[in-house]
This record gives sequence, C-alpha cells and structure tokens, in this order.
Amino acid sequence: MSTNVALIYGGKSQEREISLRTGEQVTSALLEKGFEVIALDLDEDIATTLLHAKPDVVFIALHGKYGEDGCIQGLLEILGLPYVGSGVLASALAMNKAISKQLFRLEGLMCPKDVLFSSRMLRKAGIQNLVARAERDIPLPLVVKPNKQGSTIGLTVVESPRDLEKAILKAFEYDDEVLVEEYISGTEITVGVLGNDELRALPVIEIRSVKGLYDYEAKYTPGMSEHIIPAEIDESAYKAAQEAALKAHRALGCRGISRSDLIVTSENQVYILEVNTIPGMTRTSLIPDAAKAAGIEFPDLIASLVELALEET
Ligand SMILES: Nc1ncnc2c1ncn2[C@@H]1O[C@H](COP(=O)(O)OP(=O)(O)O)[C@@H](O)[C@H]1O
Ligand SMILES: [Mg+2]
Repeated sequence: MSTNVALIYGGKSQEREISLRTGEQVTSALLEKGFEVIALDLDEDIATTLLHAKPDVVFIALHGKYGEDGCIQGLLEILGLPYVGSGVLASALAMNKAISKQLFRLEGLMCPKDVLFSSRMLRKAGIQNLVARAERDIPLPLVVKPNKQGSTIGLTVVESPRDLEKAILKAFEYDDEVLVEEYISGTEITVGVLGNDELRALPVIEIRSVKGLYDYEAKYTPGMSEHIIPAEIDESAYKAAQEAALKAHRALGCRGISRSDLIVTSENQVYILEVNTIPGMTRTSLIPDAAKAAGIEFPDLIASLVELALEET
C-alpha cells in the first residue's frame, strides 16, 4: 500500500501564488516517488475535507499567515494527522522575526539591532513619535519590515530620514507589528538544514540579485537573481554560517527542514536575519538547488521530508 499524502496549498495569504507553484511541483515529485497525492486548496472546510480524505501524512505547501505560523499545524495536531515540517511553537516563533532574534541572541548569534513597534504604539504615540524613536535607536541606512511576513513584502530600505514615516506606515499595512532594523551590508547567503534530531546543514547558497535587495521580484522572476553554490565566501564564514543555521534551527525547535537567511560582512561577521520553516519548494527554489549540490535530487528531497514527518519523535 502506498502512502497517502494530502498536500495543502494556496490559501489566502500574501504568498498564495508562490504556494501554488510549490504545491504543484511537490505534487509531481510525490507522484514520481510513488505516493498517492490529493492536493487541497486551503479554505474554511479544510478540517472536514481532511477527515474525509484520511491521509497518512500532510504536506503543508503554504507560506506566510495560517500556513507557516503554526495555525494549520495546530489544526493538524487536533485532527491527529502527522505533517511535514515544524510544529506549532517553532512555526509561530520563526514567523515572528523579533522574538526569534531574541532566541538567536541567547545562542550567541549576531542579529541586526532592532526596535519593534506595535499598532497600539502607533495609535497611542503617533507616527511622528515612532519615527523619532527609530531615528534615535537605529543608524541609517536601516530596514523597515512587517514583523510577521515573508517574501520581502512591505519591506523598505530607508536611506534618508524623510522616507522613514512612509516606510513604517507601509509595513503596518501588512502586519500589526513593524520591525526597524540596522542595515547589514555584505554578501547575502541562505542555509538549509534537514532533519529532526540528527541535523544536516546543506551547502551555503550565495544570492546575487540584479537589484541588490533580494525583494519579491528578485525572488520570483527568472534571471533577477543568481544562486551561487557553494557560496564564494571566506571558509571560516562558510562554516560559521552553517553552524549558525544549525543553532537557529535548534533554538526554535524546528523539525524536518528550515532555511536561515544570513548576511556575511566584509569582516566575515555572520548575521542572521530570519528562519523560514516552509521555504519555497519549486525545482528552482533555494533549498532544492542546495540539496542538488549535495547530491539530493528534488523528488528524493521531497520524499525524505515525508519520511521525516512520519518518524517517531
Ligand atoms: N537588516 C537587513 N540588512 C540588510 N538587508 C536586509 C535586512 N533585512 C532584510 N534585508 C533584505 O531583505 C530581504 C528580506 O528580508 P528577510 O528578513 O529575509 O524577510 P522575508 O524574507 O521574510 O521577507 C533579505 O533577503 C535581504 O535582501
Ligand atoms: Mg528572507
């Protein structure tokens, strides 16, 4: 009897389109490996649909809100269905950049200095006050981003104080919390980690974007960014980046897979920006590319994620 996989994709998040792409390619990889697959677009009836489908395991191919933040994981816990990837707590922690950075700092990892604003603070203190606070605490250039978003949505690099207000208000359109961070100049890299207890760091990927910033367009338009594997960085920084990704994976309690986004400065200091618990999984995405460099073909990577999900904890 082959294993029945229910793949959940789509949904209503800002990252719906990317999720559909991931879902389609994961589905074909699963079929290729001999799994039975039923693909489900996330809607309010998902619990009932899953109860009827009775899958052996669920593959969550969702990004962002409800998919990557612990919500769907909580639902699957209630339904008693095993699923690919991190549990409720790790997912929620990783989605919250400010809180995950606090945990990374406890592990001795370097993170960009930040201040966090809530929509309550915006209401009580007013935008001018928040602008003044950001200017006081974080040197320019700086980065303004929603605290719980992905795909560089609502993110602005601010070089001049006069652009700060607009950037903060824009980020508030996507989240009720806004993170203002010191801008780290350097080589952008990303590191995948595979495993539950025994972890394996994948080769480090260097990302070169045509525009400098690895934004939504650079991430998803062919030709707008280049993956260099292994990253052309100093050997000590390469090892430190893999170590940092392993520590970050453990610090949040991730399971199955994670991908840490980092920046290496010209002094070979390694800064961690964030951890993604459901990284993009198209054949040309970062993790599949790194896995390939490590000798793991896309269908095998997807199959091993399902196996990790079914492993006893
Ligand atoms: N503090 C920072 N310094 C320099 N670049 C940053 C910083 N924060 C974000 N970026 C740029 O923006 C991109 C997206 O930021 P990130 O924190 O990874 O959020 P997400 O990928 O969830 O949108 C990064 O890949 C990087 O190019
Ligand atoms: Mg990122």
